[in-house]
Amino acid sequence: MEQLRRTKIIDVLKLESFGHQVCVKGWVRTKRGSKNVAFIAMNDGSTIHNIQVVADREKTEDSILDRIHTGASLSVVGELTQSQGSGQNVEIIATEIEVIGEANPDEYPLQPKKHSLEFLREKAHLRFRTSTFSAVFRIRHAMAFAIHEFFNNKGFVNIHSPIVTGSDAEGAGEMFQVTTLDMKNPPLTEDGKIDYKQDFFGKETNLTVSGQLEGELAALALGEIYTFGPTFRAENSNTTRHLAEFWMIEPEMAFYDIHDNMDLAEEMLKYLVKYALDNCLDDLKFLENRLLEEEKVKPEAERSDMPLIEKLQFILDNEFIRLTYTEAVEVLRNSKPAKKGKFQYPVEWGIDLQSEHERYLVEKHYKKPVILIDYPRDIKAFYMKQNDDGKTVRAMDVLFPGIGEIIGGSQREESYEKLKARIDEMGIAEKDMWWFLETRKFGTVPHSGYGLGFERLMLFVTGMGNIRDVIPFPRAPKTAEF
Ligand code: 4AD
Ligand code: MG
Repeated sequence: MEQLRRTKIIDVLKLESFGHQVCVKGWVRTKRGSKNVAFIAMNDGSTIHNIQVVADREKTEDSILDRIHTGASLSVVGELTQSQGSGQNVEIIATEIEVIGEANPDEYPLQPKKHSLEFLREKAHLRFRTSTFSAVFRIRHAMAFAIHEFFNNKGFVNIHSPIVTGSDAEGAGEMFQVTTLDMKNPPLTEDGKIDYKQDFFGKETNLTVSGQLEGELAALALGEIYTFGPTFRAENSNTTRHLAEFWMIEPEMAFYDIHDNMDLAEEMLKYLVKYALDNCLDDLKFLENRLLEEEKVKPEAERSDMPLIEKLQFILDNEFIRLTYTEAVEVLRNSKPAKKGKFQYPVEWGIDLQSEHERYLVEKHYKKPVILIDYPRDIKAFYMKQNDDGKTVRAMDVLFPGIGEIIGGSQREESYEKLKARIDEMGIAEKDMWWFLETRKFGTVPHSGYGLGFERLMLFVTGMGNIRDVIPFPRAPKTAEF
């Protein structure tokens, strides 16, 4: 007899005719019931919802029920029926159950109860099997897809920028070195320095902190491009917002000024949030309920004022506030927390805004996403367009509630002379930047771009509180398991 083809659980749950045989395969979430009848909740990752399998000892092979525990993988054939119990519409009355892989209940770490996110981080190889993480990673996929769709619809070209680079795009010196030299006994030059000429690439190389510089080269010919790749930063920030390896989306556009750049960033973020609401509602509802449960045990003051889905809708319904860094500093200096000395970092013109300041602006003062432009030149990267005041650059940061900075970008310095002067002033070696400078020598044009931190977007869309829970295998200081 021909074997019944497997149907994914997401499709079984949509079926509206009953009485016929179906085959599902997946993992056991829970098993309950009596000695003779078991109700098995099965999930195959295609949806947040489980399918209920009813297994009767009389109708199935005798010993099989005893081998079924949380975590085991099963293949089930049975009749699809309308469910008698509450909580689900359909169930499968099993006629054949095969245990594909057992999971010993004394050893399997995931029990059918709520585990803490911290615990699950240590079990990252298995946490995909929880409802929370399967929801997060389905949404992560949807967001990656939506990003490509957004830019493709607009005619942007996806550029694969290199991961191994010889330059420090952000000039912050927070790079991981790439080398094949023997660390115990590296070849030395005459003056006792490491001789990188003998290294694999014949020069010092690192993992990239950004695809922007290469992206600019492409934009200055293809017009509008974007990169979407992994980036690496060796900054020792052990926070809920920082990873050592994260993914960044970096559009770069010829003939865009800072205002065009802000328009694109706002349009893109709204597109992505709308895509999530339109395509991931089941997963979002699950995550929203999860958060509401968590909120119940929090003190009143720490509770968020909006449930997740309302918060996402709020982004679509409101224009982002746009103001300059200088104006923002004024607002902050006149704020209650500043006057009462409540900010950990005092505010004055010239400081790099801290997360507490960004979040005050977004969450307390404007209660909307905020785009800040025209930051002090001394706290920003060398490539940003210098304003005529001699003090500020055409930088642009997008600040989001609960997150702080979600996007950083700028209009780029297109003048060869000004860019060259800035590179010299900052002590950046011209041998590393000659190719970047040449684009300003030959057919330069005004252009702009920005970087969206993919995991910061994921934090916002899923409502998760820790960036390590929105990337499958987080890389952070002292963390590179799995
Ligand atoms: O502001 P950043 O450093 O800007 C750049 O790298 C530019 N080259 C982007 C551009 O103009 N093309 O980083 C951009 C974004 C931040 O706003 C933040 O969302 C995210 O990347 N980000 C991080 N995300 C997770 N972990 C980290 N350590 C991050 N550092 C930056
Ligand atoms: Mg930044």
